[in-house]
Amino acid sequence: MTTSRRTLLAATTGIATAAATTTAATAAAPTTAARSSRTGSHQPPTREHFGTLDNGDRVDRWTLANGGTRLRILSYGGIVQSLELPDRRGRTANVSLGFDSVDGYVADSPYFGALIGRYGNRIAGAKFTLDGKTYQLPANDGPNSLHGGTKGFDKRVWDVEPYRSGGDVGLTLRYVSKDGEMGYPGTLRTRVRYLLTPRGELRIDYTATTDKATVVNLTNHTYFNLAGEGSGSIESHRLRIAASRYTPVDDTLIPTGELARVAGTPFDFRRAKPIGKDLRDGHPQILRGQGFDHNFVLDKGLTERPRPVISVTEPESGRTMRVATTEPGVQFYSGNFLDGTLKGSSGRVYRAGDGFCLETQHFPDSPNQPGFPSTVLRPGHTYRSSTVYSFGTDGGR
Ligand code: BGC
Repeated sequence: MTTSRRTLLAATTGIATAAATTTAATAAAPTTAARSSRTGSHQPPTREHFGTLDNGDRVDRWTLANGGTRLRILSYGGIVQSLELPDRRGRTANVSLGFDSVDGYVADSPYFGALIGRYGNRIAGAKFTLDGKTYQLPANDGPNSLHGGTKGFDKRVWDVEPYRSGGDVGLTLRYVSKDGEMGYPGTLRTRVRYLLTPRGELRIDYTATTDKATVVNLTNHTYFNLAGEGSGSIESHRLRIAASRYTPVDDTLIPTGELARVAGTPFDFRRAKPIGKDLRDGHPQILRGQGFDHNFVLDKGLTERPRPVISVTEPESGRTMRVATTEPGVQFYSGNFLDGTLKGSSGRVYRAGDGFCLETQHFPDSPNQPGFPSTVLRPGHTYRSSTVYSFGTDGGR
C-alpha cells in the first residue's frame, strides 16, 4: 500500500482535492448535514482523493448530502465509508463501521460497507452446476466460497458518476466483471445506484446483465451501530424483522435447506425486541454462528417494488432505521466475528457485537438449493434489486 502522507492528510482533514462540482468545501464541513432539515436541501456530490492502491489505481471518496443524511462512498468496493445521521437532539454521528484510510479496507476488512458480488454469502463446496456444467469458485471460507470469492466486487475499483433526478442526489457506480472472473460464467455488467432522497432516505438500486447464463446475488455489507460507530455493543438496539421463517445452517454456515419456523426461538423478531435479548440462551443455531448469522425468509417474498420488512431503534440516541426491499431474504449478522483487532474510523476498536448487518438478498447457496428462489440470470434478462433505508428519530426514552 503506497498511500502518501499527503493523500492521507487530504482524506482525513476532508480537503477536497478534486471536487467534481462547485462545492469543494462540503466535505470539510461536518455539521452541514446535521443542520439541513429532513425536507430536502441537497448539495451536489463532491469528490476527493482518498488514497492510492499498490497498483497505482486512485481511490476517490464521494460525499452526498440530502434531507439531513450525509453519505460517503468510496470508488474502491463501492464502500459506504460513512453514514451520518442526527439523533433526537440533532447531534450527528457516523452510524456505519469502517476506516478513515484506504489501507484499512485493503489490508483487513470484514467487508465493512462494501458492495458484495457476484454472490452475497456462501456457496457450498465453492462450486455449483448450471445447465449441466459445473463451475469451480475460489474457496475463501473453509470449503465454501464467501461473498464472491477472494477478489469480489468489494475489492474492485468502480467507475463512479454523479447522478441527479428531481430532488434525489446520487451516484451511479459501474463495474464490468469478465467472463470467468472468480470462476463465474458470463461477462456481468453491473450498475449500482446510491441515492439520497429529499427525506434523507438512502436507496440502493442494483442492476446487472450477462452474456451467458450465470448466477447473481448482490447486496451491501454495511455494519450499522445507530448509537455511532465505535460506541460499543449493538445489543440494546430493538429489531423487528417481518419473517416467520429462517434458514438454519450446518457447521460451515451453509443452509440445510430447511425453512424453519421462528416461533418459540431466538429468531422470532416479528415483534421488536433487543438484539441481545436471546443471544445467550444456548440455541444450537446461535452457538453455530456465535450469534445471529442467518438468512431470514421475508414473509412478503420477492416483490417488484421495495416493501417494508425491518425496523430498528436505538434507545439512547433515538435513531431509527426502517428497511424496505424487493428481495426475498435478509442475512442478519450480529457482528460475531469482530474480535477486537480492528481500529475503526473513530479510533476505537471494534469488538464482537459492535455492529450488525442486514444484507438484503436472495438466500445463501441458492445455486445448490433447488428449493430456494432462483438466482440464475440469463442473457436478455436484467437482474434488479432495490433496498431503501429510511432514517428518523423517536420522541424520547
Ligand atoms: C456472513 C458472516 C461473515 C460476515 C463477514 C456475513 O455476511 O454471513 O458469516 O463472517 O459476512 O464476512
